[in-house]
Amino acid sequence: MAYSEKVIDHYSNPKNVGTLDKSSKNVGTGLVGAPECGDVMRLQIEVDETSGIIKDAKFKTFGCGSAIASSSLATEWLKGKSVDEALKIDNMEIVEELNLPPVKIHCSVLAEDAIKAAINDYRKKQGLEELVFEERI
Ligand code: FES
Ligand code: FES
Repeated sequence: MAYSEKVIDHYSNPKNVGTLDKSSKNVGTGLVGAPECGDVMRLQIEVDETSGIIKDAKFKTFGCGSAIASSSLATEWLKGKSVDEALKIDNMEIVEELNLPPVKIHCSVLAEDAIKAAINDYRKKQGLEELVFEERI
């Protein structure tokens, strides 16, 4: 199967690979796995205390090219957004941007799930209630 140019670009030159300080209460960490293939993605956000804006985002993905490209793109999109805005990132936007074929849609789901898990971890650290998200098929 051919990867789109944008996937190849994000895959060969991924943005924001790395780790943020897990012990900070302003850092939320999401760790998710894809049941379809066993790939694992860790995505972290760092929220600015005063503005509530995500000032940094990093990821590490042990997985296929599409999963790496999806998380790279997600971290790019996260920076500069409020936590509420970040919650609205939909995996289908990633699919569209990267032109992912149907068999690779779950790779983008992994990125959306990782964002939501990171936000919930952040909320927990802030003493806020965790959000409940719809189960996916
Ligand atoms: Fe092989 Fe994802 S299925 S890396
Ligand atoms: Fe499973 Fe991409 S995350 S094939």
